[in-house]
Amino acid sequence: MEVKTSLLDNMIGVGDMVLLEPLSEDSFIENLRNRFDHNEIYTYIGSVVISMNPYRSLPIYTPDKVEEYRNRNFYELSPHIYALADEAYRSLRDQDKDQCILITGESGAGKTEASKLVMSYVAAVCGKGQEVNKVKEQLLQSNPVLEAFGNAKTVRNDNSSRFGKYMDIEFDFKGDPLGGVISNYLLEKSRVVKQPRGERNFHVFYQLLSGASDDTLKKLKLDRDFSKYNYLSLDSAVVNGLDDAANFRTVRNAMQIVGFMEDEVQSVLELVAAVLKLGNIEFKPESRCNGIDESRIKDKNDLKEMCELLGTEQSVLERAFSYRTVEAKLEKVSTTLNVAQAYYARDALAKNLYSRLFSWLVTRINESIKAQTKARHKVMGVLDIYGFEIFEENSFEQFIINYCNEKLQQIFIELTLREEQEEYIREGIEWTNIEYFNNAIICDLIENHQNGILAMLDEECLRPGTVTDETFLDKLNTICAEHQHFESRLSKNSKFITDHSLPHNCFRIQHYAGKVLYRAEGFVDKNNDLLYRDLSQAMYKANHSLMKQLFPEGNPAKVNLKRPPTAGFQFRASVGTLMRNLQTKNPNYIRCIKPNDKKASHIFTDSLVCHQVRYLGLMENVRVRRAGYAFRQAYESCLERYKMLCKRTWPHWRGPAREGVEVLMADLKVPADEFSYGRSKIFIRNPRTLFFLEERRRQCLQDLATLIQKIYRGWKCRSNFLLLKKSQIVVAAWYRRYAQHNRYQKIKSATTVVQSYTRGWQARKLLRELKYQKRCVEAVTTISAFWHGTQVRREYRKFFRANAGKKIYDFTIQRIMQKYFLGLKNTMPSMSPVDKSWPAKPYRFLDGVHTELRRTFHLWRCKKYRSQFTEEKKAVYEEKLEASEIFKDKKALYASSVSQPFMGDYLEISKNPKYQKLNSAVDEKVLLADVVNKINRANGKGTARIFLLTKKSVVLADQKTGQVKASVPLPDLTSVSVSTQSDGFFALKLKEGSASAVKGDFLLSSEHLIEIITKLHRTGATAEDSEQLNIDISDEFLVQFKHDKVCVKFIQGAPKNGNSVSCKRKNNRLLEVSVPTTA
Ligand SMILES: Nc1ncnc2c1ncn2[C@@H]1O[C@H](COP(=O)(O)OP(=O)(O)O)[C@@H](O)[C@H]1O
Ligand SMILES: [Mg+2]
Repeated sequence: MEVKTSLLDNMIGVGDMVLLEPLSEDSFIENLRNRFDHNEIYTYIGSVVISMNPYRSLPIYTPDKVEEYRNRNFYELSPHIYALADEAYRSLRDQDKDQCILITGESGAGKTEASKLVMSYVAAVCGKGQEVNKVKEQLLQSNPVLEAFGNAKTVRNDNSSRFGKYMDIEFDFKGDPLGGVISNYLLEKSRVVKQPRGERNFHVFYQLLSGASDDTLKKLKLDRDFSKYNYLSLDSAVVNGLDDAANFRTVRNAMQIVGFMEDEVQSVLELVAAVLKLGNIEFKPESRCNGIDESRIKDKNDLKEMCELLGTEQSVLERAFSYRTVEAKLEKVSTTLNVAQAYYARDALAKNLYSRLFSWLVTRINESIKAQTKARHKVMGVLDIYGFEIFEENSFEQFIINYCNEKLQQIFIELTLREEQEEYIREGIEWTNIEYFNNAIICDLIENHQNGILAMLDEECLRPGTVTDETFLDKLNTICAEHQHFESRLSKNSKFITDHSLPHNCFRIQHYAGKVLYRAEGFVDKNNDLLYRDLSQAMYKANHSLMKQLFPEGNPAKVNLKRPPTAGFQFRASVGTLMRNLQTKNPNYIRCIKPNDKKASHIFTDSLVCHQVRYLGLMENVRVRRAGYAFRQAYESCLERYKMLCKRTWPHWRGPAREGVEVLMADLKVPADEFSYGRSKIFIRNPRTLFFLEERRRQCLQDLATLIQKIYRGWKCRSNFLLLKKSQIVVAAWYRRYAQHNRYQKIKSATTVVQSYTRGWQARKLLRELKYQKRCVEAVTTISAFWHGTQVRREYRKFFRANAGKKIYDFTIQRIMQKYFLGLKNTMPSMSPVDKSWPAKPYRFLDGVHTELRRTFHLWRCKKYRSQFTEEKKAVYEEKLEASEIFKDKKALYASSVSQPFMGDYLEISKNPKYQKLNSAVDEKVLLADVVNKINRANGKGTARIFLLTKKSVVLADQKTGQVKASVPLPDLTSVSVSTQSDGFFALKLKEGSASAVKGDFLLSSEHLIEIITKLHRTGATAEDSEQLNIDISDEFLVQFKHDKVCVKFIQGAPKNGNSVSCKRKNNRLLEVSVPTTA
């Protein structure tokens, strides 16, 4: 078998007791001593580690060592606690089994150190990372804090744990720590108030006094001098090798890392200080008249300072130390305390204050280190509980501690010795039974629910009537007398009546680890663990931040008359829970042995070691191990683990697992006596066989890893290659396409050029030919035309000469005329008489015709236009035409009249009833009726008159009355004068000598001047006997006024009164009319 390293290499003695030859107690101890002398403090019994306390630091816990043991097989290297830790951690991480590390041994055997080593190893090998490191650091730093408050120097150990501690470290599936939970078991609180000779109070008191700054001490009202405090024993205040001051700093630092707030630390220190102060309170008796002594506080200074620290009222506490209130049902009775009772109350308060503070610390630490995730986690529990203790005087605490150790031994027996043997029987392996001492009977003596010592103690405590430690002992003596492991002088068992080593007030128990003599004194009290309610209420009322949490029962609102569970009951319950918890986990044992009682290195006391070896049952352990098999595994998991070692089982074995394992073992040629086949498991006798299998497996795994690697690499290269190849093809395809495309483009353009040249050349050639052909055809045609012409001329010459010219001329003219008329037809102007357009003349010789046609067309279209009119409209137009003939370009007013229709009767004379009379006065048809201004001859002012024109006469009538003022027959009118301007003045000149002329000519003005004159002119022209009426248009004319002739003169001037025309008589001869320029 090829092995690189083994625990057999360089072995001092034997590393595994299983290999010890010959096996006897002597050789066992000799082997331990031999190894111890060579600094080999660890030895195996199979998978159990025996650890000897070296009492000096050995260079075997370095980081190099950690690396050495990391991921190595258990039997591969020389025995070490790291090997066990590694095994447990790997089993937890890889096989998903919860683990517990059970560390047992006497006080001072090195349990606490061992637990720290395990934790530090696990911390070193498990995952890394910022978060993980923080968790690790917090888990590790919880130790110094708990040790400061829970450890003390005892005669056996300078750093003895005075509490039990079980810590669950939680890991995630990767094996990284997530957090932890600490459970603490029964702190030995009696130590707070009293320490056995040579021992100290808890470390923290000394650390605080030596390490805290002056400032802090002043705040806490403390003095650096230990001797000032009653609770601190002086005989070993300074311990060799313990630097309290430095440790204080370590603790402060650790508290900070764990996550204590500054004010929390302060509160904790305040309580520690308060406990010290409390110890200094002393009482004196004060006689009362009823003869009973009542206690009084001697010096109130300490009380005062303590009350300041706790924030309590001094008087409340003072009273609580002098009186005690007992509540029974509805009654409240207050009794005084004597001095002894007062001291009892003081110490009870100190003990409770301290132990509750300790529990609070554990809870607080748990809060900090608890796992943050709820994900399923694996657990590694580390149990470091106070070791078995035998002191000169053993009391309730030792009883409890030893009970706990008893239980642990029980679990060890259960899981190693009994379980192992039972398994062989179960599996049908040939087996000779090994005798061993089973301590279940002792456990039963202590914890039996009916007649166990704890049950009886509880019974006594709860019993009414006087209860003392003596009555308790009596009870034990009667009930346990017959028990093999119980000894008492007063028991009915006559064996001990003469045993003088057994005092009357004591009882002795034969523990698995030896006989222990317990003094019954104090059992009842300690089990009761009474704190007077007055005190707890006083504490609850205190103004301190922690007090309400520490003394919840002091809350007056929650007064509970029921007794709290006794200390023994609580402990038994928590130990029960712990045991159940441990049983669910895979156990790993570290059995600590102390080599001497002097805490000295290099001393190996045979008798002491022998004693421990015996009670720890180590010999039996070896025997069972030797007789049995070092290792067992279910066939399935065995096959699963080693199937790669045999070709037939790799990679799959199809068939029952057992047969597979048989094939495997046969194939590996493992000697037949090295293993046995059980019903469901294979049992391997020797660790070396297992190691051989493991080693082969490791190699095989390496080969497999190489194979996997090879295949993976091959696959990776191949897929890479295929990818490259594929890419190459794609690239090549694209490139080829590109190249071909380019080539094609080049050839194509070259072809096009060549083609174009060829085509051009061919086309030119063709063109030349065609041109030539065309010319030939033309030439031929011309020649033939000429020829034909010549021919025809020659033939027809005789007919042609005389009339051809005239015919051609006529024909040509005819053609031209035809074209002209047809053209004219298409370019005819519109039918509007005012359209002046006319097509351009085409030929000079058609000039006359063209002009005549234009005139004819115009006349025709005018006629056409006129023919559309009705008679009335025609008359209107005729009138308008006449007006134009008379006034156009002669009078400025004309232009504005063109657009005005001539309405004639503006007054609607025949219809309007107002003019009825006037209408009847005129018998002719009224041609025109309008209102005019008659200009006064004298001053030129105007008067409104109705002007009527009939066929025969002109009538002027009053506008208002309609009375005829003047009627002038038309023949009497000779002429009418008007100006050239835009005014409406007109003078009607009368025939001289006529009847109408008597008053003179009329000078009138009208807006409808043009119409009036035109109508007058027309009527005059049509009247039978009248002459042609003259229209005289000039800016100066004479008017006959009665006898004088007055000149009416029109001047253009700036308008003076608006835009109206003004008329003024200037003198006898002149009437001036000024007409605005714009008018
Ligand atoms: N492995 C070790 N290496 C060096 N010293 C050790 C070792 N184990 C224990 N000790 C010493 O023994 C003392 C008591 O050990 P400890 O673990 O406190 O005992 P226990 O917890 O069993 O009562 C420690 O303070 C330490 O000085
Ligand atoms: Mg310890």
